[in-house]
Amino acid sequence: MSKIAIIYGSSTGATEAVAEKIQALFDDAALFNAESVSIDDLAPFDFLILGASTTGVGDLQDDWESFLPKFEKMNFTGKKVAIFGLGDSASFSTSFAGGMYILYKALKGKVEIVGSVSTDGYTFDDSEAIVDGKFVGLALDEDNEYNETESRINNWAKDLKKYLN
Ligand SMILES: Cc1cc2nc3c(=O)[nH]c(=O)nc-3n(C[C@H](O)[C@H](O)[C@H](O)COP(=O)(O)O)c2cc1C
Repeated sequence: MSKIAIIYGSSTGATEAVAEKIQALFDDAALFNAESVSIDDLAPFDFLILGASTTGVGDLQDDWESFLPKFEKMNFTGKKVAIFGLGDSASFSTSFAGGMYILYKALKGKVEIVGSVSTDGYTFDDSEAIVDGKFVGLALDEDNEYNETESRINNWAKDLKKYLN
């Protein structure tokens, strides 16, 4: 059985709340805050789900900043990663959920990244987090499209379960 860890960075609690909802969709997934998690904490897990809101203009949520360089030292053998990101597609329509791309960029080439998501059904103008026409992970908007969140996370979790052993 894959061991799942969900690691989140959250400024006002929105990403944390979504991380808990995603946790509830998997059997026995562990939850960590990016601000306090260590490489050793994550060693036993073979499926990592990383969540972050976007701050600044397309920037990664602050709690991730200290952990990000640690990806360089991590042993990803046998691991897979999926990313989710929260944003505000109305107020930040040209940088929607862009923080996901910073996680993606830090991990690309080091580990298999799964769980990209079609941009269909979202309303925004641009996002750094689109690679090859899809979001690099699950984009969520708790500010404007909260009615969509439950079905979006349910569909995504179903997709991720294909990659679990
Ligand atoms: C200063 C600031 C900058 C933001 N910049 C962006 C942005 O560039 N793109 C985006 O999609 N959302 C942006 N947001 C919206 C947040 O990502 C969104 O409200 C999110 O749900 C916050 O989640 P959190 O409470 O987990 O941090 C910004 C919010 C703030 C306060």
